[in-house]
Amino acid sequence: MPHPQPVAGRAVAPLSIGPIEVWPPIVLAPMSGVTNRTLRALYKPFGFGLTVTEFVSSNALQYGAKRTMEMIDQHGVERPVSTQLWGNDPAIMALAAKVVRECGADIVDINFGCPAPKVTKTEGGSACLRDIARCEAIMKAVVAAVDCPVTMKMRLGWTESEQVFVEVAKRAQAVGVQALTLHARTAKQFYKGSADWSKIAELKRAVDIPVIGNGDLTDPYDAIHRLRESGVDALMLGRATLGNPWLVSRLRALMENREPAATPAAPDRLRFAVHHYRTMVEEWGEPRAVPQMRKHLGYYLKGFAGAGALRERLMRTETAAQTLDLLEQTIAQLELHASELAVA
Ligand SMILES: Cc1cc2nc3c(=O)[nH]c(=O)nc-3n(C[C@H](O)[C@H](O)[C@H](O)COP(=O)(O)O)c2cc1C
Repeated sequence: MPHPQPVAGRAVAPLSIGPIEVWPPIVLAPMSGVTNRTLRALYKPFGFGLTVTEFVSSNALQYGAKRTMEMIDQHGVERPVSTQLWGNDPAIMALAAKVVRECGADIVDINFGCPAPKVTKTEGGSACLRDIARCEAIMKAVVAAVDCPVTMKMRLGWTESEQVFVEVAKRAQAVGVQALTLHARTAKQFYKGSADWSKIAELKRAVDIPVIGNGDLTDPYDAIHRLRESGVDALMLGRATLGNPWLVSRLRALMENREPAATPAAPDRLRFAVHHYRTMVEEWGEPRAVPQMRKHLGYYLKGFAGAGALRERLMRTETAAQTLDLLEQTIAQLELHASELAVA
């Protein structure tokens, strides 16, 4: 299939997943415990063309528990949104796909990538890659169950010596899966070593459906270089965007042939962290938001002067009001310091 061409004013082409056009071709990686609807809605405007839910267990969906249903809730999130499912049984995955479609998923994504033991011990996630026939049966069943595009995200294989990604991708294409994401590590690697982008290029050459490259993208210029070098249709970014969604606006600027704006200075970054904090408390209530936001504050504080001491103080705060007070004080101090420097 010929590679779609960029239109005027754009450095790259949009990603097409069946009838859905994704612009810019930047995807927020599904991250369990992280990419809830609040984070997706807050981060999307920075330049994600597509966001993906946390993975959801197809078994758990059969019971419809409140916490599970919250994970697939698309309320208030700009479209399109993809909902990711994991499981090991084709029939249950098909039922789950119907449920998430009814609950508003624009795309259903199948997880063949998770290396966590709690998932792989039930033969779900990346463990599926040890049984290609089952992968194929799951994909076929899910494609038949829904009237929207189905995509799949995988790793290279279970181990270094069992890299089945090309074979699984060919079967995916044959049964009607409409796009593939490759996180270019094996399951056994977890997050060690680095993602092997030469494998992503190999996958792109092997199939006609769109390929989304994923793994270790931390810099907008490097990301564009990897997109061009591998020939992929889109980039998926995860960890590096946490606390730094400006990375995505910088990448979007490059895709739109614009010079990326500098990453905002510390007070503005913290102001956004405060906005994230307040939104989480509003939408999830203080008891659930406070512990979740501790890790996010850690991400927002990464790499700025005095972050260590502030992080320690933030870890000791117990209520949202205390945390927000401390953040507001820090912003005021940083601004005062900047204005003193400007006068001097
Ligand atoms: C905390 C965390 C949770 C994750 N949860 C999922 C998940 O639910 N589904 C999935 O396909 N991948 C999951 N991943 C993997 C990411 O989607 C992505 O493939 C991986 O982090 C590599 O991309 P990155 O280097 O841009 O972070 C998770 C990663 C992290 C760090």
